[in-house]
Amino acid sequence: MSKSARRRRHSVSIAAALLTTLPLAVAAPATAHPATASHPSACPWMDTRKSADQRATLLLKASTLDQKLRWLVEHAANNPAQTVFSGVTYPAQVPCTPTVTYTDGPDGVRGTGGVTAFPAPISQAATWSVRLSEQKGRALADEAFGKQKNVVLGPGIASGRTPLSGRTPEYLGEDSLLSGELAAAGIRGIQADGRSGAVLKHYVANEQETDRSTSSSNIDERTLRQVYNLPFEIALDRSDPAGVMCSYNQINSVYACENPILDDVLKDDLGYDGYVVSDFYAVHSTAPSLAAGLDQELNRPIHYTPEKIHQALSAGTITTRQIDEAAYRVVRAYLAAGLFDHALPATAAADVSTAAHRATARAIAEQGSVLLKNDRDILPLKTGRKTTIAVIGATASNTPDSSGISAADACSMRFRDTPAMTCTPVAPLESITARAARTQSSVVFDNGDDVAAAAATAAEADVAVVFGWYGMGEFADPASLSLADGGDALISAVAKANRNTVVVLETGSAVTMPWIDEVRGVIEAWYPGEQQGPALARLLWGDTNFTGKLPMSFPKSIADTPTNTPAQYPGVKAEGQTIRQVDYSEGLAVGYKWYDQQGIDPLFPFGYGLSYTDYRYDRLTVSKQGRDLAVSFRVRNVGDRAGTETSQVYLTLPSSTGEPGKRLVGFRQAALKPGASQTITLKIREKSADHPLSYWDVRKDRWRTAAGTYTVSVGSSSRSLPQSDTIRLN
Ligand code: BGC
Repeated sequence: MSKSARRRRHSVSIAAALLTTLPLAVAAPATAHPATASHPSACPWMDTRKSADQRATLLLKASTLDQKLRWLVEHAANNPAQTVFSGVTYPAQVPCTPTVTYTDGPDGVRGTGGVTAFPAPISQAATWSVRLSEQKGRALADEAFGKQKNVVLGPGIASGRTPLSGRTPEYLGEDSLLSGELAAAGIRGIQADGRSGAVLKHYVANEQETDRSTSSSNIDERTLRQVYNLPFEIALDRSDPAGVMCSYNQINSVYACENPILDDVLKDDLGYDGYVVSDFYAVHSTAPSLAAGLDQELNRPIHYTPEKIHQALSAGTITTRQIDEAAYRVVRAYLAAGLFDHALPATAAADVSTAAHRATARAIAEQGSVLLKNDRDILPLKTGRKTTIAVIGATASNTPDSSGISAADACSMRFRDTPAMTCTPVAPLESITARAARTQSSVVFDNGDDVAAAAATAAEADVAVVFGWYGMGEFADPASLSLADGGDALISAVAKANRNTVVVLETGSAVTMPWIDEVRGVIEAWYPGEQQGPALARLLWGDTNFTGKLPMSFPKSIADTPTNTPAQYPGVKAEGQTIRQVDYSEGLAVGYKWYDQQGIDPLFPFGYGLSYTDYRYDRLTVSKQGRDLAVSFRVRNVGDRAGTETSQVYLTLPSSTGEPGKRLVGFRQAALKPGASQTITLKIREKSADHPLSYWDVRKDRWRTAAGTYTVSVGSSSRSLPQSDTIRLN
């Protein structure tokens, strides 16, 4: 039975008969809420031998209506010992309910020092590593808990509709399968120790920051299902996040947090049985929101105050059953995540970062860095006693330049005008200098404030490593994909002065590279977190190999992207209207599918990334196994260095389906010594949550597999697929 079918079977209903009375095994209460310690038997929902469903039912049975209402608002739900929230009064909560604290966390624990500044999620996506995403999730939840926070508002996914979306670094790229898989791994990691919950966000079609709260993502049904809903469907199939956060935007003129898709698609079709929580101030109504399936209002009570809920009840626009269901979902999810059974520490630890967490941060920075260009093997650096390396650019160093920019700015995405993560990085300059010393070579540094002086420094050196960056993050979309602070001019000047120039890019999304033909090497390091220095030094010298691959297409220019008309992006706000209308008229042609469909060459394609070794593909076989496909091929390391290759399998559907280009249907990593090979077999399952063989049939309202010829292609990127074969499905 599929997971969603299973979920539907134990469909959420607090009408479910109460359990037979079992002798109680009462867990230590997870809260300082007064009634608990002295009266454990008054809390039958603390019996850990019962299921979360049973425990939630017991708790709500013992609750008054207004006690239930507390679960519908973050502050009232999570602070049981308090009764007044921003002037709104609630009754005391039932005993034995936990203190819960949310924290933002796609990248790391925000708003505090003493934590690990991990690389941005886009870097995590570039590792293509399910294992590292899970590992990071564990570390993140561990640090959050030490800081007295037991729900992580993350991971986040979007579909990469435009590389200008400000939160691109916070998401996992443009492909449904890759982002769905990695988000699921992150959620499993966060919830692995059974004491923390994850909240997957932002549902759905939240693809820009420009007017994010006053714009409507206007999308046809097939596109909504196949492009924007699909990564959530995959993530929810492969993990059980406590919560899902609905987004700021409207979808087809109805706000996400009061959109019937919450009940109809997320809960019913996908079988999601956790709770839906709003984004911050993303609720616009009481009755329509509750009726649509919004279970909890984030932050303080505004639309879900007891007063407004009672009014709606009297007006008959909501029912007590809807309240019960919302409260039940929150309580059951908190119980299932272990929040009732593991009290937060009494005080926050000053420093929760550990050597193991920092090792994970470094591993992501290493494996997420993508080698985009390596002309005549400029890398790995071959340094010796007389070699001089010029390191150029403000983000290479911890000493700020004249405009205050330093390595800390490249650590993470931005939150308004500052880096989202508190970060004291090991700066690239420090690590490069230390590594160079091992070959007795020397390093000179110039922060690039004065371009002519930087070029002169580069001219004197044997090799120049020049850093380019731009900041982006929540609240605003960048105006372009160009480097900040005159970065393009700096790189060009350095490249003219030294023909052995390697560029290190620290950006949250794609970058335009007007200087690409002038330089010999390019590394996309994204926002590489606090371990940026050690990771980069190891890669530059080849102490470790590059394995990263782009999780998003890099266009040559914004004009080449799928959203290249104002109606599509940023959308149009007619005079006198408050809502910007954003027309998703490119339909299914998002990301690499657009470039394939239009025959446009991107600057660098999805899935692309070089290595210090070479891989060859052969022996592809494709066969039918019932309704599924079995794909098998061999990948060989034909170079002279060990490496890890991420093999990618794409499928082109029959043209009758109207699908643009091909789609990623599988990927697998293989660590290969020089000369070694591995035969990889992947099963492409028709009924899998990623629907690899199917398209959304709008007329029938379901996924459908067309008869016809399917092409399977295998290789190292979406544009390097040396092996392919066709198969007919009837
Ligand atoms: C963001 C969410 C975040 C929330 C709470 C909002 O501005 O969109 O991603 O979880 O704030 O901090």
